[in-house]
Amino acid sequence: MKLLTDLDAIRTLTQSRLDNRRITGASGESITFRSVMVCGGTGCTSSDSNTIIAALEQEISSHGIESQVEVVRTGCFGLCELGPVVIVYPEGIFYSRVEVKDIPALVEQHLLNGKPYDKKIYEKTRHGEEILSFEETDFYKKQVRIALRNCGTIDPEVIDEYIASDGYKALAQVLTTMSREQVIDTVKRSGLRGRGGGGFLTGLKWEFAAKQNKPQKYVICNADEGDPGAFMDRSILEGNPHSVIEAMAIAGYAIGANQGFIYVRAEYPIAVQRFTKALNQAREYGLLGDDIFGTGFTFNIDVRLGAGAFVCGEETALIHSIEGHRGMPTPKPPFPAVEGLWGMPTIINNVETLANIAQIILNGAEWYASIGTEKSKGTKVFALGGKVVNTGLVEVPMGITLREVIFEIGGGIPGGKKFKAVQTGGPSGGCLTEEHLDCTIDFDTLTSLGSMMGSGGMIIMDEDTCMVDVARFYLDFTRDESCGKCTPCRIGTKRLLEMLDKITEGKGTLEDLENLEQLSLQIKNASLCALGQTAPNPVLSTIKYFRDEYMAHITDSKCPAGVCKSLISYEIDAELCRGCSLCARKCPSDAISGKVKEPYVIDKAACIKCGVCFDVCKFKAVAIV
Ligand SMILES: Cc1cc2nc3c(=O)[nH]c(=O)nc-3n(C[C@H](O)[C@H](O)[C@H](O)COP(=O)(O)O)c2cc1C
Ligand code: SF4
Ligand code: SF4
Ligand code: FES
Repeated sequence: MKLLTDLDAIRTLTQSRLDNRRITGASGESITFRSVMVCGGTGCTSSDSNTIIAALEQEISSHGIESQVEVVRTGCFGLCELGPVVIVYPEGIFYSRVEVKDIPALVEQHLLNGKPYDKKIYEKTRHGEEILSFEETDFYKKQVRIALRNCGTIDPEVIDEYIASDGYKALAQVLTTMSREQVIDTVKRSGLRGRGGGGFLTGLKWEFAAKQNKPQKYVICNADEGDPGAFMDRSILEGNPHSVIEAMAIAGYAIGANQGFIYVRAEYPIAVQRFTKALNQAREYGLLGDDIFGTGFTFNIDVRLGAGAFVCGEETALIHSIEGHRGMPTPKPPFPAVEGLWGMPTIINNVETLANIAQIILNGAEWYASIGTEKSKGTKVFALGGKVVNTGLVEVPMGITLREVIFEIGGGIPGGKKFKAVQTGGPSGGCLTEEHLDCTIDFDTLTSLGSMMGSGGMIIMDEDTCMVDVARFYLDFTRDESCGKCTPCRIGTKRLLEMLDKITEGKGTLEDLENLEQLSLQIKNASLCALGQTAPNPVLSTIKYFRDEYMAHITDSKCPAGVCKSLISYEIDAELCRGCSLCARKCPSDAISGKVKEPYVIDKAACIKCGVCFDVCKFKAVAIV
């Protein structure tokens, strides 16, 4: 078992390693040691960052410079779009889309000769002749990293590095100097609200559970993360797993629980592997188990794998799933804080919520409450996706505007296209428009506009997006994911989807539009759990803000964005066609014919509207009509 003095010794021993991973302003030959940080997040791993690490190690060893360089596999840096990403300290040089074939030159030029390897330098860090550190780019400048702290700066598989980064200090402080009430009071005063979607005050939830006089209590970490396009929680587990373990133990102490569970989807293999490894390391160090720090406090954590059902993220369904039953929601009250897992008081917190806890304890409630807005404190992690230049992960202070996130941090819309809408809150959220771009991002503003914070998915849409089709996409998801327990959700989402299908096929009527709205409100009011209660939000918000698009589909049989297949056809403009034959060769249904160097023609009866000709024509001769 490690005592407080042991942790201090680890910090002293490991600190210099972390100090090397800071931008110092030094450059060239004055640098005697470099840290090469390679992203080991899921995104970069899938584009082969493990092979890059192996190639780097081999090349460094062949030059005999192992003592002057370290190679570290980290969590996600955020700019996943540019992966695999490599960052070299102390200069803070950001390399994007690195390939194995770049490694010999990168090692020779940068690590041996001190000159950044020009070919893969991230374009946005170039400033004339100068190369800026990545922290000075628009993507990173406005971010505040609390939950994503350590993602990208430590090796998540080495507990000593977490400890050297003030890890387990908050747990030590809580167990040795604070009463349960003081811990809860600190979390309450920080204003932290749950990041899993509901936005409930975390300290208040803990207080409810603490007040229950039961022999057994539980702490559950909700890592089910099922929203399409969301990967905030996965990235935290991959890049900073100990922050979640430490927070669960603190929560256990605060409410009087000695057992925790993390419910994580099996589709997150890297997150599961790193979290499990972190758990074993924490157990080995006595930071989990009996008599932690010799204080008499016992806390254990077990992993439970979910099979990927969206509804199992709902807290009562999740509890039933851990208990071994089918993951279906049950009515609340009783709330889990009173009657949860196996009937015992249970707090369920989201991964990102928990990742804030140690920092709140260490820096104080006032520090945390000083970030954000009056009712939404701290930061929020978003997974930026869709039609935005910088897709990836960002952590921003609450109160920042949508415009800042989309256009400054996100880099705006690619290809000079026009912004159309932003969807926050995943399948439970709604679509906001250009007129909302200067609205602040906080729980209450987003809800008042008909969307919601949700867990942090943010999908950007450009002028080529059909908003009826967007509503259809989300309804298709919620219809599939409805557990089927209650009729309004099971049947209602099906009926909504049928009407949306009709409209996107040009067969919708004004009566359908009215029925869509009415049925949506009924589903919201009558469904048992928040899946059904929020499923109609994408329909209602798109009808509210993009009614003209629904009308164009219904009254003119037109899809203004040119997306809905039944309402469009492809034609070749004879004036623009150069007769290159590319479209004809690529067309999967042989619907295009013509003679080389003469205008080609599409046979509409044979065309399956796959859009390949539109995509491949370099002369913009294929038009959607
Ligand atoms: C259908 C559905 C799916 C949900 N999925 C998640 C999820 O994946 N992760 C999560 O933390 N919360 C999810 N929630 C919210 C949880 O029920 C719960 O409110 C949350 O885990 C509480 O933690 P927090 O207070 O830290 O936000 C979901 C809710 C619903 C209705
Ligand atoms: S609202 Fe939907 S997901 Fe929730 S209990 Fe009813 S059928 Fe199941
Ligand atoms: S790809 Fe474009 S230019 Fe070439 S034949 Fe087809 S329509 Fe004409
Ligand atoms: S996964 Fe590598 S930058 Fe996000």
